[in-house]
Amino acid sequence: MSELLLLNGPNLGTLGTRQPEIYGTTTLAEIEAAVAEEAAGRGWKVVSAQHNGEGELIDVLQRHGHVAGAVVNPGALMIAGWGLRDALADFAPPWIEVHLSNVWAREGFRHSSVTAPLAAGVVMGLGALGYRLAARSLTLLVPDDRP
Ligand code: DQA
Repeated sequence: MSELLLLNGPNLGTLGTRQPEIYGTTTLAEIEAAVAEEAAGRGWKVVSAQHNGEGELIDVLQRHGHVAGAVVNPGALMIAGWGLRDALADFAPPWIEVHLSNVWAREGFRHSSVTAPLAAGVVMGLGALGYRLAARSLTLLVPDDRP
């Protein structure tokens, strides 16, 4: 069975209670369930990982080069996570970068992402819904001849 990787970076394990006025009240477990629902529509299963450390995130990417696609929220590593960026450059499956908040409407230091230029697409500002939409996009974008 093909897999969809859901990868979340630093501070995203506390979604639900982390600055709810910015990130909402949906927990990571609820996001995982929504992504799994979308993936199931294509017969894929979800592998989910969240790490606060950049090295662990890189390890996950290097172990999952076989997946059909990935949904990645790099968190603050979007700003200067050059190691993560290099790992994503070497990650062959299509992937979509997600940000719950509209980073363009926030502090200037969040206005550029070192990872987003490598993504197939970016979803931001739609809260937890963005993960579901990113997952659905992958189920529609990845060609049918993919097992
Ligand atoms: C975030 C935006 C980042 O700037 C921030 O550091 C996060 C969350 C988002 O999902 O909106 O940790 O990636």
